[in-house]
Order: sequence, then structure tokens, then C-alpha cells
Amino acid sequence: GIGLLVSILIGYLLGSISFSYLIGRKLLKLDIRTMGSGNAGATNTLRVMGKGPAISVLVLDIAKGIAAVWIGVWLGAGNAWVPALAGLAAILGHNWPIYFGFRGGKGVATTIGVIATLVLIPALTAGVIAILSIVFTRYVSLGSLLFVGLTPITVWLFMNGLNIPVEYFYLTIAVALLSFWKHRTNIKRLTTGTENKLGSKKGA
Ligand code: G3P
Repeated sequence: GIGLLVSILIGYLLGSISFSYLIGRKLLKLDIRTMGSGNAGATNTLRVMGKGPAISVLVLDIAKGIAAVWIGVWLGAGNAWVPALAGLAAILGHNWPIYFGFRGGKGVATTIGVIATLVLIPALTAGVIAILSIVFTRYVSLGSLLFVGLTPITVWLFMNGLNIPVEYFYLTIAVALLSFWKHRTNIKRLTTGTENKLGSKKGA
């Protein structure tokens, strides 16, 4: 119904607010998409602008995913598809922002916000493994891929125990496929041992 359409629209418009692009523009008059990996996200913000801006981008990109899901919950009237698709729309907005020539990021921070709001315990379980892998390997992309790849599994494992709607499971599958595709150049670099490590100055 109308609640679904409005939730998807607001989710997409919220997701389209590219905080890495905006902070780069305002703070340093640069276009994040022309520097480092060229990705409009928190990882590349860390590479190009440093810790403070990167943490701000991470928090704000997560927050827009959370906000999109909440709006979906409010307008969804108990229909689990509405928050799930509002969250997906926010991720799509982040990746292809309407305000910035449809050139955005890979959607990981926004995905964290969406998945953690819909299914907190499965998200935390996948998140701990992802963070440990980043700490030990220094590859943020590997941690991102582990997070999105593990959430369908953790959601499946917790589905009966936590009464998770099956719609959320389908969402995590769609998000994982989308994210793996968005990370295809990272995957190539990971397999050839040329992926950028956290803290290294090399571009990407
Ligand atoms: O969230 C994106 C991250 O997984 C990889 O970013 O800039 O290294 O391609 P980047």
C-alpha cells in the first residue's frame, strides 16, 4: 500500500545523503570519489581525511539506515516487508544517491544500521566476527564481506528462537548479493593479495 511506497521513497532519499561526500566537500573542498579507492564511504574517508571525519561518516551512514527502518516500522503497520524494503531502499540510495549523480558508496555502514535495527543479535554475532577479521587482517573489505555474508546465516540460526520474520532473512540475502557485487574490485584485490590494508598510505 501507500505506507510501503512512502517508506521506500523516504528510505531512498535518506540513503542518498552521502555523508562522506558532504563532509569532504565542506571540510576540505574535495570530492571523496576522486581520491583513494574512489568510494564514498567511511573506509575511504579514513584513508583520505583521517579518523575524526571517518567516525562521523560511519555514525551518520549507520544512522540513516536505522532511521529508514524505523520509518518503515511506523508506516508498515506490522507488515515486515515495509521496514525491510525501506532499509534496502536506504542502502540503494547510499550506493546510487539521487543528489550526487548516482555515484555513491558500497553501502556497508548503512547496511549495518539496517540489519542491526531489524535483527540485533544476529547482526552482533556477525559483527564480532567481522571486526575480529579486520583487526587481524587489516582488510576492511574482508570484514564487510564477512558481515554481509554471515548475516543470512546468523539470521537463519536465530530465526525460530527470536521469532524473526522470514522477510528479514530474504532481505539479508538480497543485501549480501548486492554487497558482494559492489565489492567485486575489492574481491579481485583480496584474491591477488593487493587489497589496501587499514593504516597503509597506498591509494587503492
Ligand atoms: O565499506 C567499504 C569497504 O568495505 C571497502 O572500502 O574504500 O576500501 O573500497 P574501500
